Amino acid sequence: MCGIVGYIGNGNVYDILINGLKRLEYRGYDSAGIALVSESGDLNVYKTVGKVSNLENFCAGKNTDAKLGIAHTRWATHGEPCDNNAHPHFSEDGNLAIVHNGTIENYQLLKDALSEHGCKFYTETDTEVLVQLIEYIKNENKCELIDAVRSALKQVIGAYAIAVVEKNNPNQIIAARKSSPLVVGIGEDEVFLGSDGTPFVEYTKDVVYVKDEEIVIIRRGEPLKLVDFDNKESKVNVDRLQLSISQLEKGGYPHFMLKEIFEQPITLTDCIRGRVVNAGEHVMLNGVFSNIDKFKEVNRIIIVACGTSWHASLLGKSLIQDMCQIAVEVEYASEFRYSNPVITDKDIVIAVSQSGETADTLAAIQIARQKGAFVYGISNVVGSSIPRETDSGTYIHVGPEIGVASTKAFTGQVMVFTMLALSVAKIKNTLSDETIRTLVNWILKIPSLVTETLNLDDQIKRLSLIYTYARNFMYLGRGYSYPVALEGALKLKEISYIHAEGYPAAEMKHGPIALIDSEMPTVIIAPKDHLYEKIVSNVQQIKSRGGSIIAIVTKGDTVIKELADHVLEVPEVPECLTPIITSIPLQLLSYYIAVNRGKDVDMPRNLAKSVTVE
Ligand code: M6R
Repeated sequence: MCGIVGYIGNGNVYDILINGLKRLEYRGYDSAGIALVSESGDLNVYKTVGKVSNLENFCAGKNTDAKLGIAHTRWATHGEPCDNNAHPHFSEDGNLAIVHNGTIENYQLLKDALSEHGCKFYTETDTEVLVQLIEYIKNENKCELIDAVRSALKQVIGAYAIAVVEKNNPNQIIAARKSSPLVVGIGEDEVFLGSDGTPFVEYTKDVVYVKDEEIVIIRRGEPLKLVDFDNKESKVNVDRLQLSISQLEKGGYPHFMLKEIFEQPITLTDCIRGRVVNAGEHVMLNGVFSNIDKFKEVNRIIIVACGTSWHASLLGKSLIQDMCQIAVEVEYASEFRYSNPVITDKDIVIAVSQSGETADTLAAIQIARQKGAFVYGISNVVGSSIPRETDSGTYIHVGPEIGVASTKAFTGQVMVFTMLALSVAKIKNTLSDETIRTLVNWILKIPSLVTETLNLDDQIKRLSLIYTYARNFMYLGRGYSYPVALEGALKLKEISYIHAEGYPAAEMKHGPIALIDSEMPTVIIAPKDHLYEKIVSNVQQIKSRGGSIIAIVTKGDTVIKELADHVLEVPEVPECLTPIITSIPLQLLSYYIAVNRGKDVDMPRNLAKSVTVE
């Protein structure tokens, strides 16, 4: 959560920072601010509640001349979103300004100690405490900013990516990270900072991924320097940023979410590319292939994830159990990390995260590693923390996902799980070559079948008008369709703010059926699979209680068509591949309902794309 940007160079500092903030708005958008240091050493800070566009309006006509600057877009953790709590924060003497992504857990303790020394606080934030601490150390010890930052960070417990600038110094930015992402972009005579590479992708592709407990010293005209808290210098490793500017634009769509839904035939093709081998005989993921023994001998797989990635993980469980006969458990990363899990070195832990930065998932990885498990990551963002913290893994390769509601990342994750299960089945010989070949052929057809499914767009747009003002929704599915129901409900609630529950269809009769009446529409995911007959009974149970039904069915279905109020027909695929197809109409339905309700689809309230706090 929160996005930070920094720039030092000869370009237009203000424009670069504002554009950078707009790219990072997906990380938080309740307030934004900017600190600029001019050639003569003036430190100007402008900040305001709301989105970056508000900040731009606020800055109009103000002095924005600068030689360097830092900026922030906020997702509030300490203190309500308001002008005062917006970043950057000043030290008391006004000489330092800081931007921060993360949370300082021991801020109250530090605040009390500083108060005893006479420090006054003007905001409710944890961040202000850090900048006051840096100033206090600097003034007490009469030391350089870098030494004060090092010393302050030694006292801090928590997660942070920070950037600090000082008045009268238009030539230096000090930055640091622990458990929150920070990337440095190195251009010619200019250096950029970002929570990821998006703010500076058009300027440079040379990047340094800052490691935990590293401090970055950026000085005009000097090479970038990295030191640890004890001032020990480390090597600067320059990577290439795998991102293009066109991937960050809406490409004619009104929202990123709609663009990302429609991109899925391409993103699934990219996800599969290079992984189908031997002329379509089987698939092989490199991460599995280079760890054959681990997967052959594995006792149990535990998958950890959050949100949509957790739903994809439930499907991963079914895929791996069905194809590889390995016991699989799926845990919320946030629960797993505090559950004292029993893990041995015979277990594999798979961590799934689109962003690769989710704090709970990162913490779960650390615990799994401490307990000796082999940890495998499934992520989208190249160079993010999770791929770097895991022993091996697979990228889903679906390109940047900007809409806060995950769509193409979900189908990419499910596709990777399908390929992972087939790779392991090949190694363990748990599926016949014939079955593997048949499924691989289906995998290759999936992108065009997704295109066919997207043709439901118009029908769904019209359907959405009927349900725009529903106050509650039930989503039901069984087997492979149960996680799809959970995901459908999550999509609807997060962008339209309609209460929606996902349930295994057969569980309904144990309680939730009490909610069914004419006011409670049910979305039922009922493709032709081995549980089809069972779900027909569930449809009948809802109908006989006056509930209206939107059913996702296989093309040519006649039985549910008779019972349901509306049917959305999707192409027939093998059962294990149905989730990729059936989730598409649910994405569109939630999108159109949210648009009809006038909601900010790409930036829903209270949410952020990358959840880097607990
Ligand atoms: O980046 P991650 O996959 O680790 O993120 C996990 C969740 O925060 C994320 O999936 C969230 O639930 C999405 N907003 C869902 O659309």
